[in-house]
Amino acid sequence: MIEIDGVSKAYGDNLAVNDVSLTIQPHTICAVVGTSGSGKTTLMRMINRLVEPTSGQIRIDSEDVTAVPAHELRRRIGYAIQGNGLFPHKNVGQNIATVPRLLGWNEKRISARVDELLELFQLDPHMFRDRMPHELSGGQQQRVGVARALAAKPNILLMDEPFGALDPVIRTRAQDDLLAIQQRFGTTIVLVTHDMEEAIHLGDRIAVMDEGKLVQFAPPAEIIGNPASDFVAELLGPSDRAFRLLSLSRLADHVESGEATGEPLPSTASLRDAYSELLWSGRTAAPVVTAAGDVIGRIRLESLTRLAMAPK
Ligand SMILES: Nc1ncnc2c1ncn2[C@@H]1O[C@H](COP(=O)(O)OP(=O)(O)O)[C@@H](O)[C@H]1O
Ligand SMILES: [Mg+2]
Repeated sequence: MIEIDGVSKAYGDNLAVNDVSLTIQPHTICAVVGTSGSGKTTLMRMINRLVEPTSGQIRIDSEDVTAVPAHELRRRIGYAIQGNGLFPHKNVGQNIATVPRLLGWNEKRISARVDELLELFQLDPHMFRDRMPHELSGGQQQRVGVARALAAKPNILLMDEPFGALDPVIRTRAQDDLLAIQQRFGTTIVLVTHDMEEAIHLGDRIAVMDEGKLVQFAPPAEIIGNPASDFVAELLGPSDRAFRLLSLSRLADHVESGEATGEPLPSTASLRDAYSELLWSGRTAAPVVTAAGDVIGRIRLESLTRLAMAPK
C-alpha cells in the first residue's frame, strides 16, 4: 500500500504539487492523469525519492519512505522513465540487467532473468539480447524499458507516460501486455499519462491532477459517470462519455423484468455491446441469460438508448 499524505512540492513560488493525499491499494493500477505541468511527474518521483517533498509524508506499507535507505527503495520500486530512457550505448541485455547488477546478483542469475523477461515480452532472447536500442522499433524499445523496470522483481512499478511515443495500434498492445503482467505478478503500478482513454483502460483508480492539486481520485466508472468538476469533464471530452459509461456497465446490473424473444445476450456483456447488438439486429429487446443459460430477464433498446442519452 502506498499512502500519500498531504504532500506538497514547492519550486520557489510554484507549488508543483499542492497538498495531495491519496492511498494506492496493493496489486492495483493507479493512473495519474492531467494536463502538461499539472505535477504528475513530480508526484510520482516523490514515491521513489527522486524528488523530496517540501511537506507531507509518503508511506509504503506503513513505512515513511524517508526512513528507507535509497538502495532499498530502488530494490522495491521499478521505474520506467518518460520516453524509454534506455542507455543508448548498452545493448538490450545490459540495459535490462541494470538494477540486478546494482544489487550484486551473480552473472548466471542476471542472464537467466534477462532471458526470462525478453521471453515474457515476446522478444526472442537469442535475437534481441545483444541488439542496441537504436536497432529496435519504438514498440520494442518501450518493452525493453518496462522489462528493465521489472528486472529486480519490484512490488511497485512507477511508469511515466510509458506509451506516449507509440502509435495507436502498438500502444493498445503494449497496454494489454502491461495488464497481463500486472495480473500475473500482482505488481502495484502507478502510471502517469496525459491520455484519459489510457487512464480509463488501465486504471483501477484514476487520480486527476490540475495545477498541482488532486481534483478527483476514483474508479473509472465514477470519473466518467460523475466527474468532480468541469475540468474533469473536459478531460473526458464532450463526446462519447455516455458510450464509455455503457462499456463499463454489465448487463447483469441492468436486467429488466419481462419477456423477450430471439438470441439471448449473456449477463456479462457490456451495455455497449448489448446496445450495438440490438441496433444491428433491429430488435427492440433481448432475453438476458446467465453463464449457465438461465434466463434472468430482458434488456430493452429503449432503456439502453435512455442511458446512452443521459450519462449521469
Ligand atoms: N526541477 C524543477 N525545478 C523547477 N520547477 C519544476 C521542476 N520540476 C518541475 N517543475 C515545475 O513543476 C510543475 C509540475 O511539473 P511536472 O511534475 O513535470 O508536471 P507534469 O508531469 O504533469 O507535466 C511545472 O510547473 C514544472 O515547470
Ligand atoms: Mg511529466
